[in-house]
Amino acid sequence: MCGIVGYLGDKPSEYIILNGLKKLEYRGYDSSGLSILTNNGDILTEKEIGKIVNLENLIFKNDISQYHSKCGIGHTRWATHGEPSKENAHPHTDCTNSISVVHNGIIENYSSLKDDLINKGHKFLSKTDTEVIPHILEDFIKEEKDILKALDRTLSHLKGAFALGILIKNSNPSLIGVKKGSPLILGIGEGEFFLASDVTAFLDYTNRVIFLQENDIVLVDKSGYSIFNNCKKIIRKEEVIRWNSSQAQKGGFKHYMLKEIFEQPEALYNSIIDKVNFEEKSIIFDEFDTEFKNFLKEDIKIVISACGTSWHSSLIGKFLIESMSSIPVEVDYSSEFRYRNRKLSKKTLIIAVSQSGETADTLEAIKRYKGDNKILSICNVVGSSIPRESDFTIYTHAGPEISVASTKAFTTQVIIFYTLANYIGRLRDEITEEIWVDNIETLKNFSKLVQDTLKTNSYINKISPELAKYSDFLYIGRGINYPVALEGALKLKEISYIHAEGYPAGEMKHGPLALIDENFPSVVLLPKDRLYEKMIANLNEIRSRRGKTIIVTDEDNIEELNNYSEIIIKIPSINEFLQPILITIALQLLSYHIADFKGCDIDQPRNLAKSVTVE
Ligand code: F6R
Repeated sequence: MCGIVGYLGDKPSEYIILNGLKKLEYRGYDSSGLSILTNNGDILTEKEIGKIVNLENLIFKNDISQYHSKCGIGHTRWATHGEPSKENAHPHTDCTNSISVVHNGIIENYSSLKDDLINKGHKFLSKTDTEVIPHILEDFIKEEKDILKALDRTLSHLKGAFALGILIKNSNPSLIGVKKGSPLILGIGEGEFFLASDVTAFLDYTNRVIFLQENDIVLVDKSGYSIFNNCKKIIRKEEVIRWNSSQAQKGGFKHYMLKEIFEQPEALYNSIIDKVNFEEKSIIFDEFDTEFKNFLKEDIKIVISACGTSWHSSLIGKFLIESMSSIPVEVDYSSEFRYRNRKLSKKTLIIAVSQSGETADTLEAIKRYKGDNKILSICNVVGSSIPRESDFTIYTHAGPEISVASTKAFTTQVIIFYTLANYIGRLRDEITEEIWVDNIETLKNFSKLVQDTLKTNSYINKISPELAKYSDFLYIGRGINYPVALEGALKLKEISYIHAEGYPAGEMKHGPLALIDENFPSVVLLPKDRLYEKMIANLNEIRSRRGKTIIVTDEDNIEELNNYSEIIIKIPSINEFLQPILITIALQLLSYHIADFKGCDIDQPRNLAKSVTVE
């Protein structure tokens, strides 16, 4: 995530940038900063940790308006590499303070680039991946007279998906934008230009925009802008935005929850891209040291501790780790685990799973075992309390989740478990080369399948009004999709206030079947896997009791399924281990549209808080 703003015009640049950053605060709020070109032509940089208001206070205190700046860049950060701190906050500059860079996204190969640059004598001040960029550009600007060529050579060294805002001293142009994988938009005003990761940042000044395309470089100076792709000048179509500022903050989506559901292709990609190397068919966890890697090869057990949605992803994690290794895994609710009178052997690894990293029960659970047991956390918020109490942390890189109901945090936790389970299986020599390669290959096109799953949105929107009249729902699944049924039911109840229960389908006859009649619909998770026929048997049990069914499936033969239900949500097919992510996305959309039809306060459901920091 992270938010970028750039400005060149006649207004005080620090004012425009701060205003823009406030609008982008939802993209990251652990630290922020800006660089301006002063009236002496120097670059002045200010950074602060915490909310944008802290940066605003600093700028006011240091009275930077005295520099009458008309051009600058700014950034609001959501930490990925390096904890939230002033040093790690953007912008980052080169050795001569002539180039300043703000960055959204991840530079995958920054570590080797940084080593090379340090060997050449460059000085680094932060732990970020971003800081390599101004230093590489510094070297190429010395060699090339033409900025475009220097930029092109710099970009050819960077691997990953990102967007950049660049400010250069004594240069025409002085403001530059680069789009490669992450969003970047050019705003065109009267004699002024804006760069931003989201139109919200400048919509108060102009609604004329150009959505930059892959590998576009935009050079901006007083006389105008030029866009280049592959060093060739090109023309991109200008568009007019018709959203108002508050709609735009949610990227044009009605609620943050829907926006976050639609962010999943990018969030899932960002979560694994620094771990999986598709060319070398390898998975690397830089987070682990050699001793820990050796520990993972021993005769160990795992206990996973989590709450709510994170507890559901942990159940999928158990399935994945147990499928790919011989390690037995238990999953416990943190609120139970922390009070259980239990002595764990030293050979037990505790994994704490938490989006916020602040959930009180999970935090206390790990504190209790800290020192005696190794603790690994899977977390979304860099520098939060749970990672601080852990020996090792894997971050999910989902970006900030604003909506109380967790969506992208859940699916990114699952993809981390998938990656980790494969890694452990390989480390212990318990999965074959063939399965290993196949599992890595499957990740390659995964974002595309996630995007295809999101295409079910309009169908789900259409079927939801009719479903919103029911007051109870049953969600059933088997195997790895049993926790998905639990998660689907939780999502529906928390945002629509409709009672819903998740069950393993094989349990129907042991009780829940008594509930079924025409007023009690069942959401049936029916992937075409080895348990498909068993699920069909469950469908028959429900249908013969006049129960309404909603089927979520990847089966192509929809005709056959028409006998069981008039509502079939068709999603793409993928291996058994990643199918839960695609099914979950369809269930997130189902809960969302039912709740929206009922007019519920989707982003802030009654009685709930985003971060449960009390017991
Ligand atoms: C439900 C939801 C909650 C959280 C739970 C744990 O949509 O968001 O159930 O999953 O409160 O929170 P974290 O993951 O922050 O520990």
